[in-house]
Amino acid sequence: MLAERTPIVLSNWKMNKTVNQSLDYLANLMRETGSQGRRMEIILCVPFSLIKIMADKLDGPSLIAVSGQNVHWEDWGAYTGEISAPMLADLGAQFCMIGHSERRKYFAETDEMVNRKALALLKSGVRPIVCIGETREERQLELTINILEKQLRVCFNRFSASDLEQTVILYEPRWAIGTGNVANSDQIAEAHHYIRQELQRLFSPPSADRTRIIYGGSVTPDNIAAISKIEDVDGVGVGGASLDLPNFLKIVNAIPTP
Ligand code: PGA
Repeated sequence: MLAERTPIVLSNWKMNKTVNQSLDYLANLMRETGSQGRRMEIILCVPFSLIKIMADKLDGPSLIAVSGQNVHWEDWGAYTGEISAPMLADLGAQFCMIGHSERRKYFAETDEMVNRKALALLKSGVRPIVCIGETREERQLELTINILEKQLRVCFNRFSASDLEQTVILYEPRWAIGTGNVANSDQIAEAHHYIRQELQRLFSPPSADRTRIIYGGSVTPDNIAAISKIEDVDGVGVGGASLDLPNFLKIVNAIPTP
């Protein structure tokens, strides 16, 4: 973890929590982290229904930011059931996750769609969290690097260097999500190193060096110490283990901060 890059701990709630549950979680998280004075960002990726009420509670300087989990690439129009980047900005979302493996698997989201969504978010001042990662079959066929190369090339098409620096990259091997099969340190180190190298080639070494690349997939309080020691890992994305606040706090507190 490079000192200039502020570490991120991201919590992906997926399709979980009611209004009351979310306010309770947030109040306790603010109490537990408020006085720490640490340099880190805690990003809560929550259902659309919770963004505004949570963002309204955070309207001062805070380690905590609220994020959407999906967005449409158009600003408005006849897209029933969708939400746009200006709407997310209006609700107070500072970030939005795109291309999560569950979106790719259940909603046929492609790298081209992720690219359009990312550009729409940047235009509205919402910072994209772009999820990439290989399937189990792709890893078994030793295609991981090829897949990452294609995802980076397509998802970041027409990006400027400053667009890249606004963006967080969440490397989540699809076989590690929700399975308890966390990637091992060598696999994580290799992927993160490759991603940074490729960003250096596609953009520039300084921009690549300023971009946060975080790991997700079965992160728990038991494996966080090992993961956070890996070079080029600037934080973690946590799903299942972040729904319970005491568990999530163990992960937050284990992240070394500069
Ligand atoms: P998991 O999910 O931590 O439950 O594996 C990670 C994610 O979906 O971002």
